[in-house]
This record gives sequence, structure tokens and C-alpha cells, in this order.
Amino acid sequence: EVYGPRRQNSAGLDLSVKADRERLATAVAAIDAETLSAGPLVGGKLAVGTPPLPVVAPADDNRVVGAVSEAQLPQIDEAFRLARAAQPAWDRAGGAARAQVLRAMADALETNIERLIAILAREAGKTLSDGIAEVREAVDFCRYYAVLAEDQFGAGEILKGPVGETNSLRLAGRGVFVCISPWNFPLAIFTGQIAAALAAGNAVLAKPAEQTPLIAYEAVKLYHAAGLDPRLLALLPGRGETVGAALTAHEGLDGVAFTGGTDTAWRINQTLAQRQGPIVPFIAETGGLNGMFVDTTAQREQVIDDVIVSAFGSAGQRCSALRLLFLPYDTADHIIDGLTGAMDALVLGDPALAVTDVGPVIDAEAKTALDKHLERLKREAKVLHALVAPEGGTFFAPVLAEIPAADFLEREVFGPVLHVVRYKPEDLEQVAGALAARRYGLTLGIHSRIESFAADVQRLVPAGNAYVNRSMTGAVVGVQPFGGEGLSGTGPKAGGPHALLRFAVERALSVNI
Ligand code: NAD
Ligand code: ALA
Repeated sequence: EVYGPRRQNSAGLDLSVKADRERLATAVAAIDAETLSAGPLVGGKLAVGTPPLPVVAPADDNRVVGAVSEAQLPQIDEAFRLARAAQPAWDRAGGAARAQVLRAMADALETNIERLIAILAREAGKTLSDGIAEVREAVDFCRYYAVLAEDQFGAGEILKGPVGETNSLRLAGRGVFVCISPWNFPLAIFTGQIAAALAAGNAVLAKPAEQTPLIAYEAVKLYHAAGLDPRLLALLPGRGETVGAALTAHEGLDGVAFTGGTDTAWRINQTLAQRQGPIVPFIAETGGLNGMFVDTTAQREQVIDDVIVSAFGSAGQRCSALRLLFLPYDTADHIIDGLTGAMDALVLGDPALAVTDVGPVIDAEAKTALDKHLERLKREAKVLHALVAPEGGTFFAPVLAEIPAADFLEREVFGPVLHVVRYKPEDLEQVAGALAARRYGLTLGIHSRIESFAADVQRLVPAGNAYVNRSMTGAVVGVQPFGGEGLSGTGPKAGGPHALLRFAVERALSVNI
């Protein structure tokens, strides 16, 4: 029971309310006047990391947001040692006690919402509306997993058995989880992975993405301030190839929760396979090649609104974002016309301003990859419309292009590029089959008034989250449990009722009286 009086999703802030906009502007000004810093937090203390590296705002090459010292390898051993010492008591404390800490964390996030949004805007280039959604999601994860901890991590379930014997089954924490997160939800996914692992009775060693250590540092400080024994949560910032690789090769781990690219998941899987010691669960939530199928019964204005949000919201930097739009020949031109008009209305620029719809991409590497993809589209496909990027930061302006078929794209294109494929209704099976053959399975959009069309597309393109006649991003905790299949992820779904199960062991007990 996760609705009702025990839990409500966070209200966040409202950009249409002047007072909320003013509070955010004040918070951004305060962050601009501060130089943030982050480093390894082991046992609640700031350890001496590598010499600090600057963290530069994606929206402005000249704006240094703060500095980060990366973790040194011996700190990983110490973090494992402390975590292992503290975890049994945390596990024994039970789900109800752990829920209290998670609820205190949710409250702390809400209390600090303006500051967190301001850091997200500067460090990750998130627009204010994306920042609001992100803090809300982090809060929701904490409160949702608090309820699951209470419901699923109590005395256990009594099972039927022979007379004279009591049999039961209960869940317990596994031990020490390594949580590795991406930069595109540097607060929500970072906080959510940790909340799930903690709720299930584990200790956590968390490695944020190298691009976004500052917001992660704030989140870990808030967890500790919320009453969590600091030995139960260490922050180990650093690069994937060094800190990430050392964490996942460590014999002290009992599980890994990872969100990021599919290639990285393969790499981590290999590292885990070569480790000595117990075989541990690997929860991997990865990339997508997400399609939306429109038929001739679809409502044009609704399609246009939903496509713009799904493809260009968050500068296309969502795993759930729309990449391939399948339009029937009969209505394609009419929809494309509407899309180009709606693209022209998008405001690109400083993500810390309330008017901005599309901020920068995360860094120069991301921009270069998108520029290269655009060159290929110009050479081998057809660019239908492209906006102009602002000067200064790592901006890449939204692009609409037409490609012949899904197999033109070999892998996820992570940014605001929408690819249109025209199809004949009689070819639906083949066209959708070409997308399914990529073996991703994250999100799927459908726009149609015909139920059998929606059902056919869902059968032809398996996906973890399908959305009919609406946008296909922004899954809400407890409402749209989120996660993919195939190349897109292992499950369990974040923000769903089974989220904690792979973070736990099952223990059966038989007592002969
Ligand atoms: P990434 O795979 O480059 O990095 C993710 C994390 O893995 C980072 O913390 C990175 O440092 C770490 N890492 C890199 N190499 C490692 C290694 N060898 N060992 C251990 N850790 C290593 O991904 P990214 O660029 O940060 O994020 C974008 C990707 O994340 C996209 O592909 C996107 O689709 C995906 N994503 C998926 C979901 C989902 O729920 N399915 C959500 C958000 C993002
Ligand atoms: N959970 C995020 C979304 O649905 C990635 O867009």
C-alpha cells in the first residue's frame, strides 16, 4: 500500500508561481557566489583525495562551479571495512527503523530543494523544471522504498508446513552494495539506488559520474545528517576506469547497482565475472533506442506536443527519450510541418533561467559525438530541420532528420536528435521488427485511437515502459515503475513494488517444536 496516508509523491516547486521562481533565482545566485567542493567521504570524514580538478558548468565554459578530489584506491578498502562492520546492525534494526532514516532524508531533500536545483542547473546543465522533477523523484524514491522496507523487511512470512513445525521466509540485506550512477540524473538515480540498497538492509559505497560529483556530495551529506551511520554510506568520486573498476573488482562487495551505458554494463559484467568470491547480483539499467509509432487515427496536435517533450526535453539526455518516430506516409508531412514549427518555439540557453526549454549537453565529448552524428545524417540521410546552438557552453541544438529504417542507428544517440522513419501500414510488422532487432527494450510510445494497433506495436516491440497517447518520458515513482529489458536493463524496476528484492537475500527457517 504505497498510495494513501503512508506515502505521497513530493509536490516540488511550481515555476508558474512567482514566489517559487524568486526563491530559485536567489538560490542560483547563492550557488554562483559559492565555490563548491567534493571529495571522498569515508566514515563520514572527508578523506584526502587526488589534487582537486575543476568542475565547469556545461552551459558556460568560463564558469567554474567547484572542484572535486577523486578517491584514492586505499580509501576503497577502508570504506569496505567500515561498511562491513556497520552493516549487520543496520540489517538487524529492521525495515521500520530504516524507513525512518529514509523519510528523514526525503524531508532533508525537500528542505534543501532550491539549493539542489541550483546545483543541478550549474553542474549538470539541467533546466529548472528538470531540476524540480529530479528533486521530487529523489524524494519519492526515499519515501517509496521506506514503505517497501516496512512491508517487506519485517518478521517474515509464515509458510504452510507439517504439524509441529513452524516454517517462515524472510528477506535480509546482502551486505555491501556498490552503487554506480550516471550524470543525467545525478541526484534522483544517485539517491534512489542508495535508498533501495539501504532500505533492504545493505551498506553502500557510492560512485557518482565523474561529471557530477558536487550534487552527489550534497546528497551524501544529507543522508548522514538525516541520521544514517556514516559508515553505512561512503562517497567515492572518480573516473569509471579507475575508481569504478576498482570498486567492482573488489572481493568485499555483495552486489552492484549500476545505471549508465550498455557498453559500461558489459565491462562491469566482465569485471564481476573475473572476481573471486561469492557470485553477486548485478542490477544494470542501461540505454535505449526508443521508438514511437503513430497511425493515421492519431490526434496531430497531441502527437506534436508529446514528441517535442519526449525527444527534446532534457536536451534529449534521458535514457527514456524518443529517438525514432514512425509516421505513416499519409500524415507524415503534416506532422513534420507541425514539429518544425514547435521546434522553432523552443528556447535554448541558460538552464538556470525559468524561460529555458533546452539547456546544454553535458560536456565536450557528448557534443563532439552528436556533431559527428549530425555530419553522418547530412551525408547519409536527410536533415529536415535543425535549430541553432547558443555560443559558449557545450550546446547542441535540436535536430529533426529522416532516416530510411531503424537499422540506420546502431546504438543509442544520446542527445536532442529525432529520427523520423516513414512507413506503410501494411509494412508495420517489418518496420517494427527492424527496431526490435536492435534488442533494446526501454520505452515505447504509441499514438493511435485503435486498440488493436496499440496492442500490435506492443507485441512487436517489447519494452519495459510503454506509453499510449502521451509523452514517453518522466516515469513517476510508484505510478510508472521504470526500467528496461534486453540491452536496456536487467530490472528490477526502480520505483516499483519489486525494486528491493534483488538487493536482498531470502532466508528460510524451519523450527521443529
Ligand atoms: P556511463 O556508462 O558512461 O557511466 C555511468 C557510470 O559508470 C559513471 O559513474 C561512470 O564513471 C561509471 N563507469 C564507467 N566505466 C566504468 C567501469 N569500467 N567500471 C565501473 N564503472 C564505470 O553512462 P553516462 O554517460 O554517465 O550516462 C548516460 C547513459 O546512462 C546513457 O546510455 C543512458 O541511456 C543511461 N541511463 C539509463 C537509465 C535507465 O534507467 N535505464 C537512466 C539514466 C541513464
Ligand atoms: N525515469 C526517467 C524517465 O522516465 C529516466 O524519463
